[in-house]
Amino acid sequence: MQATLYIIGIGPGDPDLLTIKAFNTLRHCPVVATPKATQHGHSTALSIVQQALPASELDEKEIVELHFPMKKIHLGQEPDPEVLQAWQDAAGKIFAILSQGRDVAFPTLGDPAIYSTGYYLYATMIEMHPEVRVQFVPGISAMSSCSATTRTPICLGDDMLAVIPATFSDSRLRQILENFDTIVLMKVHRVIDNLIGLLNELNLLDKATLVERVGMADERVLADLSAIDGQVHYFSTIIVRKK
Ligand SMILES: C[S@@+](CC[C@H](N)C(=O)[O-])C[C@H]1O[C@@H](n2cnc3c(N)ncnc32)[C@H](O)[C@@H]1O
Repeated sequence: MQATLYIIGIGPGDPDLLTIKAFNTLRHCPVVATPKATQHGHSTALSIVQQALPASELDEKEIVELHFPMKKIHLGQEPDPEVLQAWQDAAGKIFAILSQGRDVAFPTLGDPAIYSTGYYLYATMIEMHPEVRVQFVPGISAMSSCSATTRTPICLGDDMLAVIPATFSDSRLRQILENFDTIVLMKVHRVIDNLIGLLNELNLLDKATLVERVGMADERVLADLSAIDGQVHYFSTIIVRKK
């Protein structure tokens, strides 16, 4: 029987937020291919899987670490050659395992549908090997978890929602902040000072809450963004809710 690549959303950090389907699929796959942002760094996805699965089962699995450099990707534009090479290398390694008839799990943070490497891997794999079977398992997104932690709905009634990476140009960000009822800002860590300035200018500071490392041991909820001095972690999301 042909092997399958499962691209699995594992939630944003709390291992209890794996769905039963994600848990069962991870248990079933003999190989777990985990993404990490630097060659020598650790994989957050792997650490969530390690917390969720029994150690005896993990010991039986082959763990394949894949390096995906963190660089900006603009859809419609050719990606950076280093990024393209990394996707192709990852797809090649996984294909070799699938060709041995072994299913591969690729756990990805949150939900694979939202700014996830999972879809880049999928697109590269299908382009290189269109015959490969791929299944997606949806997961709980970081914004859903931040919403739950702060008891803030993301959208209700006729609310209009925008979910955006905060690394947008200022003019696009401003336009979105002005025109939507709820704005979820992701990837805020590198632009936090700029963002706080913009929110202040638009009188939205008191409507914004930042959640850092939701569901992880050192989770922080910052309701007063003006008190932020210095850096916030990459795992930070801001919900701006006007109503
Ligand atoms: C590459 S995106 C991945 C999003 C993920 N696929 C999802 O469904 O939430 C990374 C961004 O997600 C958000 N994020 C991921 N994990 C988070 C966490 N534990 N706490 C807060 N934000 C998180 C941050 O905005 C981070 O910069």
